[in-house]
Amino acid sequence: MTDPAAAPVAAPVAALRAELRDRIARVFIGPDRIVDHLLVALIAPGHVLLEGVPGVAKTTLAKAFSATTGCVFRRIQFTPDMLPADITGSYILNLRDQQFVLRKGPVFANVVLGDEINRAPAKTQSALLEAMQEGQVTIEGETLRLPDPFLVLATQNPLEQEGVYPLPEAQVDRFLMKLIIDYPDVAGEERMLATYDHAPAPVERVLDPEAIIALRGQAEAIHVSAEILRYIVGLARSTRDHDAVRLGASPRASLSLMRAAKAQALLDGRAFVLPDDVRHLARPVLAHRLVLTPEAELDGVTPQQVVEHALGGVRYVGPADGVR
Ligand SMILES: Nc1ncnc2c1ncn2[C@@H]1O[C@H](COP(=O)(O)OP(=O)(O)OP(=O)(O)O)[C@@H](O)[C@H]1O
Ligand SMILES: [Mg+2]
Repeated sequence: MTDPAAAPVAAPVAALRAELRDRIARVFIGPDRIVDHLLVALIAPGHVLLEGVPGVAKTTLAKAFSATTGCVFRRIQFTPDMLPADITGSYILNLRDQQFVLRKGPVFANVVLGDEINRAPAKTQSALLEAMQEGQVTIEGETLRLPDPFLVLATQNPLEQEGVYPLPEAQVDRFLMKLIIDYPDVAGEERMLATYDHAPAPVERVLDPEAIIALRGQAEAIHVSAEILRYIVGLARSTRDHDAVRLGASPRASLSLMRAAKAQALLDGRAFVLPDDVRHLARPVLAHRLVLTPEAELDGVTPQQVVEHALGGVRYVGPADGVR
């Protein structure tokens, strides 16, 4: 720890992370890494896609995390018959005075759980995805700002299933990261059966909107050296040059990786980004944005492998502690 600026933020942020892990562990059995990544996204800031097969507690996790934020929370259960206005809202006629009044949709919240997002048709998905990108929605020509903070946690099942609408490639780029929710390990699953025969107590808040905005401000002030920036750009470019890739990581992706790395540094109580922060977040931040060539897909190449390849091939050149 070379920078005295790290000292004042370190203790409260470390305590916050520990508390958050503890609260969520009461309802979700899984690696701490998942909870940490959610916290990174909240601070970076950016939206999160949670992917996993049915019944691995995607919804449970997203609801628990939302509860810890102390923010206004809404859940949108996506269905095939859903319309964009079901997300954003619409004007309805008030019969008493014959005036049209705006009824805001569920997207007007701080934390929005878009559950099973790939069960809704493209137009409806894009209503949410546009809101995510713009921080605002347009209803009948009127533009309305969304509250701050605004965080979307969307869940989806892997795409091979029937009756789902894959998110368009251009739109998954709007998620800061995709987290794969896997099966719990044997011990974890046994513990779940032993402890979850009764409904767990509601998850308590750890944060509030002001605290989240303050954390975001602290993360912005984290130092990123020129060498770290070069490393991030090198990784992004490496995915673009890979033979198996049709569409590599966009500049938005490199920006996302930098923001996420800053949030990670803050959580670890550092005032500067380390190359390890970048390595640690490269998979969840980059992999979901890569589109492979059809041949590579047939050969069983995965986007994760492409990111691994980038991590293996691109060298960080600079001081080991990332500070300059
Ligand atoms: N890792 C886990 N830790 C705690 N509970 C779990 C875990 N995995 C599954 N469960 C339990 O399994 C049930 C299903 O969870 P949940 O509905 O959140 O899954 P899901 O991934 O959202 O499923 P779907 O894709 O069908 O919506 C819940 O009762 C949840 O508590
Ligand atoms: Mg679910």
